[in-house]
Amino acid sequence: MRILSIETSCDETALAILSVSGFFRPTFTIEAHKIATQIALHAQYGGVFPMMAKREHSRNIVPLFLVTLKEAGLVENQAEAAFSPDQTALITDTLAREPEMLELFLEEIPHLKKPDIDRIAVTVGPGLAPALWVGINFAKALSIIWNIPIVPVNHMEGHVLSVLVPKHTKEFTLSRSSFKLPALSLLVSGGHTELVLMKKIGSYAILGATVDDAAGEAFDKVARMLGLPYPGGPEISRLAEKARTENTHHTFKLPRPMIASKDFNFSFSGLKTAVLYHIRDTGTPDEQQVMEIAREFEDAACEVLVAKTMNAARKYAVKSIIVGGGVSANKTLAERLTAAAQPLDLHVSFPTRELSTDNAVMIALAGYFGKKVSIDSKQLTAQGNLSFKKEA
Ligand code: KG4
Ligand code: ZN
Repeated sequence: MRILSIETSCDETALAILSVSGFFRPTFTIEAHKIATQIALHAQYGGVFPMMAKREHSRNIVPLFLVTLKEAGLVENQAEAAFSPDQTALITDTLAREPEMLELFLEEIPHLKKPDIDRIAVTVGPGLAPALWVGINFAKALSIIWNIPIVPVNHMEGHVLSVLVPKHTKEFTLSRSSFKLPALSLLVSGGHTELVLMKKIGSYAILGATVDDAAGEAFDKVARMLGLPYPGGPEISRLAEKARTENTHHTFKLPRPMIASKDFNFSFSGLKTAVLYHIRDTGTPDEQQVMEIAREFEDAACEVLVAKTMNAARKYAVKSIIVGGGVSANKTLAERLTAAAQPLDLHVSFPTRELSTDNAVMIALAGYFGKKVSIDSKQLTAQGNLSFKKEA
């Protein structure tokens, strides 16, 4: 089986082609893996604006698709390059809200012979609705032209499964050690902070989530207050590391919100505001103070994340821990969580750096395990707030 996957939930347009052979112990081959990032664009404004993200996806997705097909060796041109009037009308209707994509689609896709693709996996949520629609409508348009079924994918399931892909290889099987079930997944990104219990692949329940800002969002907002570029996570992390290496000493302490609460929810908005008040009270921080704030903030955020994750791991007696989402690239979080899990003999898995942020390989994996739906299914709509069910 060959899967084309599409991810446009936030600020990365990502496409991948994954082939799968064998049933009981399938072998996966990443045949293509492409990302067009909008980070530079959004960095100018300090954050992601949904309509701007939508327009970028809409401009980028067709050219990126051609490059992706080429990488997988699936481009074959056809001489009679034309859609029937019916096809043109259907595509025009499907892509009516994405005029940039429509124009490129009608220009480029008629030249292609149907590639050997058996299903299309597309992210339907959670994320920015206008951005999600670009991917969904692109999937529908391809499905109409080539009669390929579509599998809707929950972006967060993608982040959970991203740890299945090992480092430095395009071909892999699902190893038993990837994660032992039940597994606890800490999903930390710019839009989400959740603890998810995974009983098996396809069965997920939320144990707790942030009640306000996501962890990555807090990193980004604090970075902005400190005059650091977007995305802020890596910047904060770099400066915090520097403060630790130089062994600077700071006397102020930031709160660890909800660290002692019995539930598995998080709150990062108060932590962000505490940084704001600190800056207001002590004046614009100099270079050294920026480093110290970064360090104290990272310590506070990681402490809460580690404490809650370990509480949940104990309560649900899980056999392994998975970390997913952009913030999983944070070194301090990785080191401290791994150390905290060791006495319980719990293995903590992280995605490779490349697959920690949004990508389409993880969407293809989730699509492999997911179910096909008909093209007019309600599941093929942008579901900005899509979420796993709550654990009873
Ligand atoms: O998963 P992702 O790429 O996109 C979303 O779905 O949100 O996550 C992006 C987030 C950003 O907030 C970014 O600042 C954060 O992940 N991030 C980090 C690090 N690298 C990326 N946060 C902390 N430390 C890092 N090293
Ligand atoms: Zn994500």
